Amino acid sequence: MKEGFSSRVDDVVAAIRRVTDFVPHAAIVTGTGLGPVLDDIRLVARLAYADLPGFPVSTAPSHAGELLLGMLGDLPVVAQNGRFHLYEGWQGDDIVLPVYVMRALGAKSYVVTNAAGALNPDLRMGSAVLIQDHISFLGVHPLAGPNDDRLGLRFPDMSRAYDPDLRAAAASAADAEGVALERGIYAAVHGPEFETSAERRFLRMAGGDLVGMSTVLEVIAANHAGMRVLGFSAVTNNASGGPDQQPDTLEEVLENAAIGGDIIRRILLRMIREGTL
Ligand code: HPA
Repeated sequence: MKEGFSSRVDDVVAAIRRVTDFVPHAAIVTGTGLGPVLDDIRLVARLAYADLPGFPVSTAPSHAGELLLGMLGDLPVVAQNGRFHLYEGWQGDDIVLPVYVMRALGAKSYVVTNAAGALNPDLRMGSAVLIQDHISFLGVHPLAGPNDDRLGLRFPDMSRAYDPDLRAAAASAADAEGVALERGIYAAVHGPEFETSAERRFLRMAGGDLVGMSTVLEVIAANHAGMRVLGFSAVTNNASGGPDQQPDTLEEVLENAAIGGDIIRRILLRMIREGTL
């Protein structure tokens, strides 16, 4: 991150603190088409990104640009409704700024959802997948540059990037809820173009089950900031790169994201009721 990054964080936190003293325990970030996951939050405060100094403003389709603070069941949360992607032209610092802001507000866990293509042909459209781990093909590393020791360690451990206890709790919440939750490894690509069929076969061979254009920079930052991460993908399209390759349209992505998003929402609400999130 660039010199002065933590004063960027401080400025945003100060602006939020002028509006509310609410302390969230968990941060939630929703991806393309997954905003409805946030419909159950009983709002305490709602802040437009445009009103937060130095905060980026999302341009991606179906990404509202606001920070929500409130109660999800008994859990105080801060939710980022709309996120930032490299393909929009943002820098790593812009993309991870909200992570450190939400950590500074009090959030100790970081729940991330995204829409992803299925590299693994066994994953059905509209299914919900618990992210086990990721592989970055982004070529961008958000912690490059001077490290601010107040924010995190110089060389953060990524061997448990997606918290094993939260993953186990999500799996048992899915069982209790009677919904199917698949497992997968998320491969992150820069975008905005979808991958060629040859690239998709390469990502599959490299060990990816899912492919998407988000999540990884934020998860690196959340680990750096000492947060426990839980990640879900909603499978929106076939990305197996085979001869039966589906055309990728935004409509297809949004429709399937809504189906997977509903499963993810039920799992999260169950985890909150069980006190595991
Ligand atoms: N590739 C990259 N990102 C995506 C995809 C995909 O197939 N589907 C949804 N986001």
